[in-house]
Amino acid sequence: MTEIARSRIFADAASRIRAVGPNVVALTGAGISVESGIPAFRGSQGLWDRFDPMEYATIEAFSANPEKVWGMFSGLLPLLLAAAPNPAHLGLSGLEGAGMLRSVVTQNVDGLHQAAGSRNVIEYHGSFRELVCLSCWKRYPMAVWSPGDAPPRCECREILKPDIVLFGEPIPWGAQATAEADAKSCGVLLVAGTSAQVFPACELPAIARLHGAVVIEINTEETPLTRTTTDLFLKGKAGEVMTKLVEAVR
Ligand code: OAD
Repeated sequence: MTEIARSRIFADAASRIRAVGPNVVALTGAGISVESGIPAFRGSQGLWDRFDPMEYATIEAFSANPEKVWGMFSGLLPLLLAAAPNPAHLGLSGLEGAGMLRSVVTQNVDGLHQAAGSRNVIEYHGSFRELVCLSCWKRYPMAVWSPGDAPPRCECREILKPDIVLFGEPIPWGAQATAEADAKSCGVLLVAGTSAQVFPACELPAIARLHGAVVIEINTEETPLTRTTTDLFLKGKAGEVMTKLVEAVR
């Protein structure tokens, strides 16, 4: 693509956002946090290359052998705890602050949108901020565990589970209902850094488009959405693309 064609797509995306702002909703995935040093799930160097999700990321796997699943969590958590928001997270919070964006629906559990200053964040797959006991449902802050510790236990002695959605668990009801309502009512859905392979989050772009929204997608590579649902595809790293897009919106 020529530089002129690329500039036209950015200008078009920016004018679509300006036309409906603040009725813009973002849907984000692991790719938006890659530039913060957190690996994505799929693709080379993805987490699922090292850990089979059937063995490490299902509720059945956690219930059968929580120590084994904590083997993955305890490698990942120090990365999450050390990570800082990158220009993509900051760009979205800037759009919200400028009254151009309504909410961020994120599949990420790293809390980086909130750290960047986004206020209306819908955590579709839960978060690593809290731990929950699957036996008595008591909740604890993640701070009860430190890197190097054994898996944390509830006062009832059960091993605690981070409050994230594992495969086989339902999406938190409020998050699912709000995300779906936002997808149905937004004028632009800005999809950034998701492979759009995990149900039901991957349906939100089609829901938005069926209800009249323009779908703008940011990704380093094409996804199942790109040629079916996406109206404008901005190829590149989320941090670089978002910075350029936010400048164009302003
Ligand atoms: P994936 O790992 O499936 O996809 C990450 C996407 O980000 C891919 O399409 C990459 O091309 C893209 N990407 C990588 N680096 C990027 C960058 N710097 N800028 C922009 N895009 C980049 O992550 P998700 O789609 O978020 O669920 O995965 C969805 C769910 O699958 C996760 O929430 C998790 C996982 O299994 C559960 O654990 C329930």
